[in-house]
Amino acid sequence: MQAYLVGGAVRDELLGLEVKDRDWVVVGATPKEMLANGFKQVGADFPVFLHPRTREEYALARTERKQGRGYHGFTVYSAPDVTLEQDLRRRDLTINAIAKTEDGDLVDPFHGRDDIKVRKLRHVSEAFSEDPLRILRTARFAARFRPLGFTVCEQTMALMQDMVATGEVDHLVPERVWQEFQRALHEKAPEAFFDVLRDCGALSVLVPEITPPAVFPLAMKALRCVDKQTNTATEERLAALLSPLDESVALERAKALKVPNDCQNLARLVTAFTPEIRSIDPQQPDAGTLLELLDQADLWRRPERFLQLLSVLECALTDESQTIDLLRTASKVATGVDPKALLAKGFKGKELGSAIRTERLKRIGDAIAPINH
Ligand code: CTP
Repeated sequence: MQAYLVGGAVRDELLGLEVKDRDWVVVGATPKEMLANGFKQVGADFPVFLHPRTREEYALARTERKQGRGYHGFTVYSAPDVTLEQDLRRRDLTINAIAKTEDGDLVDPFHGRDDIKVRKLRHVSEAFSEDPLRILRTARFAARFRPLGFTVCEQTMALMQDMVATGEVDHLVPERVWQEFQRALHEKAPEAFFDVLRDCGALSVLVPEITPPAVFPLAMKALRCVDKQTNTATEERLAALLSPLDESVALERAKALKVPNDCQNLARLVTAFTPEIRSIDPQQPDAGTLLELLDQADLWRRPERFLQLLSVLECALTDESQTIDLLRTASKVATGVDPKALLAKGFKGKELGSAIRTERLKRIGDAIAPINH
């Protein structure tokens, strides 16, 4: 029995990057032998084990054959006669199909090292097309490694285009798609993910609304801008991506992608606010309109989400920065109204509500007065 380090750990080490997870492949062993050596079985579908001490994953070498469409239906064959090369052949990209012995020797039958040198994302074999999720993974690696100079090689792009044309992407389940989107949105160059998906045709299946030439650059510009801000959450990134769309279209797409509620809500708010913001003349702002927007965003209960909303709007509507600043100012002064102080003055129930509103309006009015004069 022989264990090899494989996948992301070998790739990242060769790239001089920090190695996070270390995955191993084991050749020439049976599950029984692994268990006898103290490994714990974790995989239900594949023979995957945890090392008794390091807790790192050890998978028995396997081959996979596709059965049905989409991401289901793989027949896994794992036995001591499966070779390292066979296991590496079933993998997605050559840079992910390099193995390293415990002595540090590299086994690289698909020339992953060459592709690391020439900065290419290249499929290992035709088996790539058996798993449509690999299109998303390749796009995600493009997003991660574009700053290092990586691009998808021509043949892999052509293969992905064929896969899209034969309907492979139509069968991906939204949960898996979203998982890849979510990760890609946080990679170093998230726009590369969408460039690759657009170039192979998958974007027309997954988020068709942002593919038109008049829309795509706007979505990318907003995404890049949001990405430049530090620590932006997934919510803001997805909202930036969908920001050029109409509210109902954005909401429907977010629902179809089964994105989490917080992401849906921010995307909805951004797209609902866009026409409102555009309709405000920043030279003649109206306190009532601004307060209505603050109410609509539920600033009072969701102050942090309001800040997210402003930051996405700033990125999506670069021509409307004056109006967005006004909204920011209005939010600051209006949240300064203290309901407790009004309660202490004797206001109760409905009266308290209208006293709060009156005070908020007054403060917003005072804050914007210099503009209106
Ligand atoms: N793999 C694959 N096809 C998939 C998923 C995984 O070929 N659909 C292979 C690749 O060889 C990959 C390895 O399994 O390197 C481990 O997968 P994973 O942990 O998802 O990815 P990493 O390459 O380790 O990348 P990351 O840094 O994102 O964890």
